Amino acid sequence: MQALKVLSTEEKEALDSPRITSDFTQSDFLGKVYIESYGCQMNFADSEVVTSILINKGYGTTSNIAEADTILLNTCAIRDNAENKIRHRLQAFKAIKAKKPSVTIGILGCMAERLKTKLIEEEKLVDLVAGPDSYRDLPNLLDQIENGQKAINVFLSKEETYGDIEPVRLHSNGVGAFVSIMRGCDNMCSFCVVPFTRGRERSRDTASILNECTQLYYNGYREINLLGQNVDSYHYVNTETNESINFAQLLEKTAQINPDLRIRFSTSHPKDITDEVLYTMQKYDNICKNIHLPAQSGNNRILELMNRSYTREWYLGRIQAIRNILGEDCGISHDIIAGFCSETEEEHQDTLSLLAEVQYDFGYMFTYSERPGTPAAKKYPDDISDDVKSKRLSEIIALQRIHSGIRNERLIGRVEKILVEGNSKKSDLHHFGKTDSNKVVVFPKKSEKIGDYVHVKILSCTTGTLLGELVDN
Ligand code: 5AD
Ligand code: SF4
Repeated sequence: MQALKVLSTEEKEALDSPRITSDFTQSDFLGKVYIESYGCQMNFADSEVVTSILINKGYGTTSNIAEADTILLNTCAIRDNAENKIRHRLQAFKAIKAKKPSVTIGILGCMAERLKTKLIEEEKLVDLVAGPDSYRDLPNLLDQIENGQKAINVFLSKEETYGDIEPVRLHSNGVGAFVSIMRGCDNMCSFCVVPFTRGRERSRDTASILNECTQLYYNGYREINLLGQNVDSYHYVNTETNESINFAQLLEKTAQINPDLRIRFSTSHPKDITDEVLYTMQKYDNICKNIHLPAQSGNNRILELMNRSYTREWYLGRIQAIRNILGEDCGISHDIIAGFCSETEEEHQDTLSLLAEVQYDFGYMFTYSERPGTPAAKKYPDDISDDVKSKRLSEIIALQRIHSGIRNERLIGRVEKILVEGNSKKSDLHHFGKTDSNKVVVFPKKSEKIGDYVHVKILSCTTGTLLGELVDN
């Protein structure tokens, strides 16, 4: 099967833009499904599982919403604005439903799980609500709608990993693919809705992960992104052999599939990332030297209120370990929340000083958004005004931009190994790809093809992109 459409190349855009199903010329006697996916990479990976389940039952897919018989939105609930975006999108569907009353509209993912039947009550045009662990049930749920009922399944499972389902690659350029290695989260960070929407943490069978990665390699893919809410706590016990596999061991096994297969992973939790993981990264050239290590705050009192289970000093110790073991060039990125409950100006300054101390390559930065039902919503008032939250966020973003520039400038004059991922968004005469440390590089095309490894000399940069030219090895 062919994967057709890449809608964004930079991860930060992935957070903002929906991604849309491609067309498949498969049998579609049960009608055509259109899926828009919002939120994190896990959601994009889940939509590929959903597509596989539906195609196997006889549905086709389409990227043209006007010809869809079923419209599915795979949603995010992490912040209020993520949910507002979906509500807004639903308004646009009213016209579609008015024109074609037979169309089914379904909400999948975290917002479906959080709101459950409320979603059907509040949004009259929604026919189907399915949480992240109920995708195998989608064909049955769609059958129920055929019979004129609304359908809902928000059961959270302790076991479901969809390990045996071969995802249909919707969000891929044929070079890179997401492979989900675990689901759910047990961390209970006080601000976070994920433990409630994605349920208990469970790790996927190692053999099925390795099988999927190997298949991807033989199908021409050259970069795998191992996904989980907290990959460092991956733990799988093979009940037949009693072999117990942790994340470092899984990483090693995926790296051994082929030296030409690049391995990336996210997200790492500062309390769980081990030296064993870092030494495994050091040992294999094809495990990319880039770590996403959310800090959330640089202040110990706030970290405690957030229930992050580490201190600023512990976090900085992990950064030191990364730089000692993997060197100064290892890319490090963060997530930061500005204006968490009761955060003082001094505590915000601690976050800025953490940024200054680490000098990250990249970051995802947010204002705190209270999520109903979370421990923070129950225990702490959301007492920082929107203006103050925004001001703090702008300061964090401005500082990060400076650091991104500094970290990019370090590479000027160097030759970097790049995996060619596609045409540059701005010019067909240029290709783009990423460095080992996850920085986007744009360079004029020669005879190289998408999926090739090339060497590029970095000549200049912006805060977001490196510009270079091809050189011989
Ligand atoms: N408000 C703002 N940001 C949040 N995140 C998670 N929950 C919230 C919230 N309630 C951010 C964290 C997390 C990232 C995926 O989203 O920084 O690491
Ligand atoms: Fe949410 Fe914390 Fe789990 Fe990340 S580790 S998904 S922030 S609860």
